[in-house]
Amino acid sequence: MVWWFLVPKVVFGEDALDELEQIEGKKAFIVTDKVIAEIGLAEKVQTKLQALNWDVRIWNNAEADPKVSTAKSAAKEMRSFGADWIFAIGGGSVMDAAKAAWVLYANPDMNLEALTPFDSIGVREKAKLVCIPTTAGTGSETTKAIVVREDESGRKFATINSELVADLAILEPEFVKGLPRDLTAYTGMDALTHAVEAYVSMWKNDFSDACARQAIRMVFQWLPKSVDNLEDLEAREKMLVAANLAGMAFSNSQVCLAHSLGHSMGSVLRTQHGLAVGLALPYTIEYSAHDNPETATHYSDLAGMLGIVEKSEEGTARLFAESIRNLQKSIGFPTSIKEAGVTEEEFEKALDKMVEFAMMDSSITMTPRNIGSGEIRRMYEYMFDGKRIDF
Ligand SMILES: NC(=O)c1ccc[n+]([C@@H]2O[C@H](COP(=O)([O-])OP(=O)(O)OC[C@H]3O[C@@H](n4cnc5c(N)ncnc54)[C@H](O)[C@@H]3O)[C@@H](O)[C@H]2O)c1
Ligand SMILES: [Fe+2]
Repeated sequence: MVWWFLVPKVVFGEDALDELEQIEGKKAFIVTDKVIAEIGLAEKVQTKLQALNWDVRIWNNAEADPKVSTAKSAAKEMRSFGADWIFAIGGGSVMDAAKAAWVLYANPDMNLEALTPFDSIGVREKAKLVCIPTTAGTGSETTKAIVVREDESGRKFATINSELVADLAILEPEFVKGLPRDLTAYTGMDALTHAVEAYVSMWKNDFSDACARQAIRMVFQWLPKSVDNLEDLEAREKMLVAANLAGMAFSNSQVCLAHSLGHSMGSVLRTQHGLAVGLALPYTIEYSAHDNPETATHYSDLAGMLGIVEKSEEGTARLFAESIRNLQKSIGFPTSIKEAGVTEEEFEKALDKMVEFAMMDSSITMTPRNIGSGEIRRMYEYMFDGKRIDF
């Protein structure tokens, strides 16, 4: 079987933004959100582009977990402006809104959920894409994935297509410096979840494994430092790189169960993405390694990298899950749904929908152990109380 390993050109480090001078184009459409516009990051890019004689328009209406209608309205603006380059400046929500709008700019009537990985969608006949992440987590600047929400049901869904890898990703540490402590922790855990899931997914391969292993090492080393000292630019830069490597890993492998559970929590309880998937991660490791020697071996490989060894491979996988919980505790990240501030009443009300949405989520298909709705329900119940998975 032939495989591809697709990534954008990645420019990283202090002054990475100077790469803008190398781009040839005329009309820059900046997609961002109100927070990023307010703290002046979109303007910084605008000023630089205008000095290079670009015509620039800023669209700052992306919201957290963007809806399809948001992407549609951005696409409409792109069309009226006649953009030849799109600049996404923000976290995963902004980058996904920009990528979804890019698809709809080239294909106004396309149903995003029906898009398959191999469809030809001609996005570059309209414009090219630069992503400048302002969070160190999603890796969307490097992936071929988009996650958006259906307007009516609020259900998040992921779509992948090879053309959706950006042309250029600029990792500029100054752009993540202002990220508050809780979001630094949440988005960092998203990066870890991408890397661990890429390493066990059904489509894992040698290239994705290499990226995943380095990303995991870096998250364990640099995330606590990023959270402890928000001004530590070295830690910020390392986390941007770790998140990008994790994005490369999962974009060329896949994510699995923690993302199905997390997307559904995000849809129904509106939990922040990194918080939801990071919280699910250790539980999904315990589930996926149970009576499943091949997958337990993969987790124990990762555990070995951190110096964790136990007699059995499943035992080692469980210790690996525990080491993730310890990392979470050290950065003030909740280890149960209850600790994340969800009341029992809210949880009970949300549970049926979360189970239904998790079963519909495309990430579930890459999970290395079969799972049905009964187990999903039990997993959520265990996650609510912080109980270790024993089935
Ligand atoms: N396409 C992909 O490959 C992919 C991968 C993982 C996650 N996602 C999606 O990305 C979304 C989550 O993205 P996220 O975790 O980056 O969060 P986000 O983009 O939703 O941002 C969270 C909040 O942080 C603010 N923020 C962002 N950068 C900031 C900065 N530098 N300073 C201050 N505030 C800042 C935003 O304005 C927003 O209010 C989810 O919808 C998730 O499903 C996509
Ligand atoms: Fe994620």
